Amino acid sequence: MPSGTHSQRRVLSGMRPTGKLHLGNFVGALDNWVRLQDQYRCFFCVVDWHALTTDYADTGMIKHNSIEVVLDWLAAGIDPERSTLFIQSHVPQHAELHLLFSMIIPLGWLERVPTYKEQRENITEKDLGTYGFLGYPVLQAADILMYQADCVPVGEDQVPHVELTREIARRFNLLYRLGGKPVFAEPQPLLTPAAKLPGTDGRKMSKSYGNTILLTDPEPLIRQKLKTMVTDPARVRRTDPGNPDLCPVGDLHKIFSSPATMAKVNQGCRSAGIGCIECKGWAADALVRILNPMQERRKKYEQNPRLAWDILEEGSAQAQKSAAATMEQVREAMHMSQRYEPLPSSEAAK
Ligand code: TRP
Ligand code: SF4
Repeated sequence: MPSGTHSQRRVLSGMRPTGKLHLGNFVGALDNWVRLQDQYRCFFCVVDWHALTTDYADTGMIKHNSIEVVLDWLAAGIDPERSTLFIQSHVPQHAELHLLFSMIIPLGWLERVPTYKEQRENITEKDLGTYGFLGYPVLQAADILMYQADCVPVGEDQVPHVELTREIARRFNLLYRLGGKPVFAEPQPLLTPAAKLPGTDGRKMSKSYGNTILLTDPEPLIRQKLKTMVTDPARVRRTDPGNPDLCPVGDLHKIFSSPATMAKVNQGCRSAGIGCIECKGWAADALVRILNPMQERRKKYEQNPRLAWDILEEGSAQAQKSAAATMEQVREAMHMSQRYEPLPSSEAAK
């Protein structure tokens, strides 16, 4: 049972079940989640229903990918003793709250969401003209408000979704009151400072670009990926000076290397005192140092993934308890509780 008192502020965040996570997922979210556990009562949710909004035609890998994601969470240090880890679809209350919210949200609010417009324009290989895809942020609002989260750690692209969640909370509170009081508090986005993490080809690290370094990559593979990583294009020959600020390997150093190594890189690169091969070796050292303990921690669960599943079952039982309490209040406020209420008698109606 997670320790945590009622006075502790709550965090909820979600991640789509994309399978094995990469360094970009770590830097952009997971690393922050691990730290938040020290200060907040945390709920971390694998949002498999959200995956359906774009991948409804191919559900074969969803469960497998959900487990892979959770193995990486545990490897990175998400602690099931303190935090609640669960799969969205195992807590059906999310669907109920989503439905109720869908009744009160004007279409225009959803059509204006930047990620919606962008993805409708950019993703052409799937038909995203569905009801569910438009409702993506409504489902996200249900995830967040279900646990009365105070803070929602997200990257910049997700801030409009948290803003919309606040608007939904406000609208619900305006329409329905519980004994005169609002049901939902408005959550705050907790912006994850986004370090620029390039993939091996210099573009943003992303599964769809095939340029990732996975948290599970063994040391030889990390070294090999680094060897083929692009560098400052101005540094063609070993004797040409370079600029770590214009080099994707330099970006890795900034995130993962010590100040001492960073100083060596800066000095050596700009004076052509070091070669890129040497510099990449140091970057690989830094990655190995960070990933090694994760890979050690992962072994226990990898050898017996059932352990991770047990954690998820326990987590969804806890999540359901919180969710049930919220839904009680929601139904009560909407006059839709399952409690019998006598009809007004004709006497009282006079
Ligand atoms: N939309 C988020 C993403 O794509 C995932 C998500 C779903 C989420 N529900 C959430 C994030 C609730 C934070 C809180 O990354
Ligand atoms: Fe990039 Fe390092 Fe080569 Fe400089 S020395 S260009 S920082 S890889």
